[in-house]
Amino acid sequence: MNTVRKLADGTEIPLLGLGVWQVGDGRECEDAVRWALEAGYRHIDTAQVYGNEESVGRAIRDSGVAREDIYITTKFAPARRDPVAELEGSLRRLGVDQVDLYLVHWPQGGPTRAWAGMQRARERGLARSIGVSNFDVGELAAVIALGGAAPVVNQIQFSPFEYRRALQDVCERHDIAVEAYSPLGTGRHLGDEALAAIAGRVGRTPAQVLIRWSLQRGLIVLPKSVHQDRIAQNFDVFGFDLGDDDLAALDALDRTGGTATAHEHPWW
Ligand SMILES: NC(=O)c1ccc[n+]([C@@H]2O[C@H](COP(=O)([O-])OP(=O)(O)OC[C@H]3O[C@@H](n4cnc5c(N)ncnc54)[C@H](OP(=O)(O)O)[C@@H]3O)[C@@H](O)[C@H]2O)c1
Repeated sequence: MNTVRKLADGTEIPLLGLGVWQVGDGRECEDAVRWALEAGYRHIDTAQVYGNEESVGRAIRDSGVAREDIYITTKFAPARRDPVAELEGSLRRLGVDQVDLYLVHWPQGGPTRAWAGMQRARERGLARSIGVSNFDVGELAAVIALGGAAPVVNQIQFSPFEYRRALQDVCERHDIAVEAYSPLGTGRHLGDEALAAIAGRVGRTPAQVLIRWSLQRGLIVLPKSVHQDRIAQNFDVFGFDLGDDDLAALDALDRTGGTATAHEHPWW
């Protein structure tokens, strides 16, 4: 399996990234990012509201891995006014000239409110690619209808238990890559019995099975961990395949009815 995907704007994104939501600023975040880079990750997913961009930047600088070899995503905190000004703050905290991907974190204030500012951020070279997060079908349509650059990514909650098949189909039709956030259900899915049975059958851990399912279902996937062994384990998913029966059994865990919505309980 390829480890990168080409986005609609021609750039390439690594299929597996480390998520750092709820990873403490300082030592905890620096360690997690360093361990990830040592394990082979080349993609880090942070956000302005995570409060740990400085630690992400420091760990990247200290790693010895070249900046151009690491894919950095951050997200615009949509309660703020200006995506350009907020990205300039992110770049200062990260200590880089440009991020690879800048997302509207959620559609607060309406799906189109931030989009002109997002496009300006890209035109000024502050972000190579721009996209959205937590957008449903109607919200994506509203952004596309503006007629400018369309989002190249929609980052949404996604796993076999939240198999948002209708939303994924619409994204694919518009060449919007889907990024799976909370691919382990923020840890909650890992104790599921059906998942454990599949993991036992294929000789992998439940986390590896969920991450592999995301890859085989055409998603970019962003697991989070602050433990070195788990960070390495979660990256060790390119050397096995889930068979059709196991994929179908995982698909059947969906609790959303294949929904086109981005979230059952929007917080915005
Ligand atoms: N755009 C958005 O609105 C949004 C929302 C949510 C998340 N996200 C992104 O998606 C990323 C991942 O989602 P998430 O943080 O909700 O969590 P997740 O990746 O679904 O699950 C992480 C949880 O699983 C545990 N874990 C990880 N690997 C494990 C393993 N191999 N074995 C056992 N336990 C393991 C972690 O514990 P330890 O850390 O203690 O190892 C943590 O409790 C976030 O960090 C963020 O980048 C984006």
